[in-house]
Amino acid sequence: MVITRKIEFSASHLCRNPRLSEEENQKLFGPAANAHGHGHNYVVEVSLEGDPDPVTGMVLDLKELKQILTHEVVEPYDHRFLNYEVPPFDRVIPTAENIARDIWQRLEPRLNDARKKLHAVRVYETPDLFVDYFGTQLVGDQLSGDRPCSA
Ligand code: NI
Repeated sequence: MVITRKIEFSASHLCRNPRLSEEENQKLFGPAANAHGHGHNYVVEVSLEGDPDPVTGMVLDLKELKQILTHEVVEPYDHRFLNYEVPPFDRVIPTAENIARDIWQRLEPRLNDARKKLHAVRVYETPDLFVDYFGTQLVGDQLSGDRPCSA
């Protein structure tokens, strides 16, 4: 079965690829490439797959899950300018896609064990735009940033 916990944080970002020209960045990312950045109220849903513990009846105590999410995601991300304050976004474009992957990498070592594993990370950048990540990767080039984030 799958359990999900939702968290929120607010952060600034800008989306541009240093390998591209100013004109190409504006064409690809639009206003999201503007140098002074802009903010989003991100909503993240973290889903765990597992079996309930026979003693507690829970896959993972949701209070404990909230503590892990607060420590690993909210504290490092909240009220930060991602490009300048939160590695790896000094070198990885902080699109919703790359944010979902970074959150996965922060959480997986804290959550996976014999009874449960991280199932999905869903990142809402706006109420009508979200990304689901299941821990798989088709290509390895993290700087390609081939999908623009919304402005
Ligand atoms: Ni944006």
